[in-house]
This record gives sequence, C-alpha cells and structure tokens, in this order.
Amino acid sequence: MTDRRSFIQQSAALLGGLALHQTVHAAFPDIAPARPVLDPTTDEEDFWRQVRAAYACSPTLINLNNGGVSPSPRAAMEALDHYNRMCNEAPSYYMWRILDQDREPLRMNLAELAGVPHDELAMCRNATEALNTIIFGLPLKAGDEVVGSTYDYPNMYNAWRQRAQRDGVRLVYADPQLPSEDEAAMVEAFTSKFTARTKLVHITHIINWNGQILPVRKIAAAAHAQGIEVLVDAAHSFGLLDYSITDLGCDYWGTSLHKFLCAPFGNGLMWVKKEKIAKIWPLLSNDKPQGDDIRKFETLGTRSFPIEMATGYSLDLHNLIGPQRKQQRIHYLKNYWMERVREVPGVFFKTSMAPAHGCAIGVFGIEGRKATDISEQLFSKWKIHTVAIEREAKAGIEAPFNHVRVTPNVYTTTQELDRFVEAVRSLIG
Ligand SMILES: Cc1ncc(COP(=O)(O)O)c(C=O)c1O
Repeated sequence: MTDRRSFIQQSAALLGGLALHQTVHAAFPDIAPARPVLDPTTDEEDFWRQVRAAYACSPTLINLNNGGVSPSPRAAMEALDHYNRMCNEAPSYYMWRILDQDREPLRMNLAELAGVPHDELAMCRNATEALNTIIFGLPLKAGDEVVGSTYDYPNMYNAWRQRAQRDGVRLVYADPQLPSEDEAAMVEAFTSKFTARTKLVHITHIINWNGQILPVRKIAAAAHAQGIEVLVDAAHSFGLLDYSITDLGCDYWGTSLHKFLCAPFGNGLMWVKKEKIAKIWPLLSNDKPQGDDIRKFETLGTRSFPIEMATGYSLDLHNLIGPQRKQQRIHYLKNYWMERVREVPGVFFKTSMAPAHGCAIGVFGIEGRKATDISEQLFSKWKIHTVAIEREAKAGIEAPFNHVRVTPNVYTTTQELDRFVEAVRSLIG
C-alpha cells in the first residue's frame, strides 16, 4: 500500500496537483481513489483509446451531446463515491474538518489552469450561478445599457431581462450573422451597438446553439477603449480551448466545470478581476458584502463537498492529456464527421470548420426536415444521442434555429462517428 500511495503522490506531483486531497490521503491512505494512468508517448489513436478507458462511458449508446453535460472520468466517479461514503459516516466532521481543508488547494489548481491568481476565483455550482451572481451583483441603474447578443444562453438572457424589469437597465442585442469566419464583422455587430450609456457587454465565448467561437479579445478591447466592462460566458470554452482568462481581456467570467473539464455534475467557477470584487454584490448573504475577498461569493450554506473535491481528479486527467492536445483532438473529431456528412445531398451546416471559429460543437440540418425528427430517428434506429435545436426567431432579440447539435468529447471514437455518418446517410435514403 505504501507503494500505491507513493505512486499516487508521484503522479500528483507530475501533474502539479500534489496539494490536492492531501488531507484525505493522509487520513485514508488505503482507500484514496486511484488517479488515471496514461502513457502519453504511445501512438495517437492508442493514446485516445486509453483516454476512453479512463471513462465508464456506454459501449452501446453513442453519446454525442457532450455540449449539454459531459461524463466524469472513472477516477472522479470513484472519488465522489468514496467521499460521499466517508462524509456520511460523520457528516459535519468529514465535510467541514477534512474535505473543507482541501478547497484552497483545489482553488489553486483550478487557478493554475485558468491562468489567474487563485484569490480571484470563486467555486460555485455551474455557469448559471457564476454569471447570475455577476449579472445581479453589478451596480447598474435605470437607463444604463447592456449589450448582449441574439445568441446568448436563455438563463443569462432571462437574468438580464429581470434586471431590465426590476431596475430599468436597457438591453441591446448584437445580431451577428453566424456562422462566420469574418472577425471584423462579428466585432462590428457588437461595437455598433455601443453608446455613451453602455456600461457592459456580455459575450458568449462559444455559442451553445452552433459552436461559433466569438472574437472575445477584440470585442473586449473595443469595449474597454470606450470604458465599457466585459462579462464572458465561458460555459463551453473552459476545459476545451487552450487559453488563460487573461488572454480574453475581460473583467468578469463564469463557466461550468461539468462540460469539457468533465467534473462531477454541479461544479462551476466565477472569476472577477481583483479590483472589481468589492463592487459586485454577492447573491447570498455575507458579513462583508462589499469586501474584496472572492470567498464572499461562496457562502452557499451546506453543499456537497464530495462533488467539489472529486473535481481534482477530472482536472488531473485534463492536465495529463494536455489542454492543447485535447483541443486539437476534439476539433479533429468535430471536423471528422463534418467532412464526411458534408457530401450528403440536402445536408447543411451552421458551424464553421475553421479551428479559430469553432470547436467541439457542430450543427447540421437536412433541407425540408425538422431537427426533432432527425434527432429522434438517430436515436430510435441507431441509439445515437444528439440534441435537436428548434427555435422561432424573435426579430432582433433571438436568432432562429432548426438543426441537430453534435458534440463529441475526448472519449468519442472515430468508429462511433463513422456509425453516425452512416446513420445520416441512411436518413437521406
Ligand atoms: C452558453 C451557455 N452558458 C451557460 C450555460 C449554463 O450552464 P449550466 O447549466 O451548467 O449552468 C450553458 C449550458 O448549456 C450554456 O450553453
């Protein structure tokens, strides 16, 4: 057991995660969950087969909706189960005296990946919580304008609508023509909406509806030049694109960790630039609501420490694969099916195939067919799980959709995508 323990510690050191869970490992050396073991030097497809084996994904159902939520690797599941059982033995002791001790090392490890100081990063349950905290916490007044887009996610869109109804904040929607590979046009779609009253621009880094990557840095630079703050919805980009938050040049940022980082469900992160923390009101009560300690956003009350702490194992696998290699692989998988489906008569795409403008999420439709019918047939005949996106346009406020969204992840095989391509061909008959 000493060998296993020292192996775990060596792996952790290798991955830069030695501090994580050390309290638990010290307390329970015999039952600490095993970390994933991969040999990154093997042949490329062998390497990805090993990655697949690190997940307990269904061998029969083909899950191509990793954009909604992704599975966690086996090690994270094992840790979750282990921590849950441990906590249940004496909850207040194991949760608050043992697991709670590891929140700061976890924050540091996440901050390392995010490329920001750890005291600017709050741990929360998902992107909705992270971004709603900022949207409701910003000191805006009647007449102040916020620029979003016709492609923003409904939870954020509705949070802003609530601020409009409650406080008289004015909402303005950029309406970029997507998909696009024209950065100047996408930037212009936002900047043309800026006025002297604009206080903030809300930018969805990767659009959930079609996978478009927006040129956040350029929009942010233009906004800052006019004294406008920048909030980024990074639900799909963190753990997928290889970047640091500081690369984006924004002021506020929020993400989920249960999408491409593959953390257990119910994990998110919120980042606020240090000098801006004090002015954001926390959503939940805190004794120093105007303080500048990022932890003022974390007074959630009793919550699941096992879910948070098991995230360290998902992070380990992410680091072991390497952020750049992961981004390239997922992009390769997306284009793998798109290149093959492109030739099928009647098929159209709403996603760019260029690496700068799309990753992971690809969407397609078939002329004259409803997206829900396509998606249902893919499942009933082939057990391929995708998601149909259908929405009527609300002029200038919400863009219309009628397509099927397909999102592979690191554990997806090219054989699964071949099956999917065959299924699409059969739909056309
Ligand atoms: C762009 C975008 N933002 C935010 C969210 C919300 O994420 P969560 O449900 O994890 O809060 C989603 C979810 O799919 C999303 O696609």
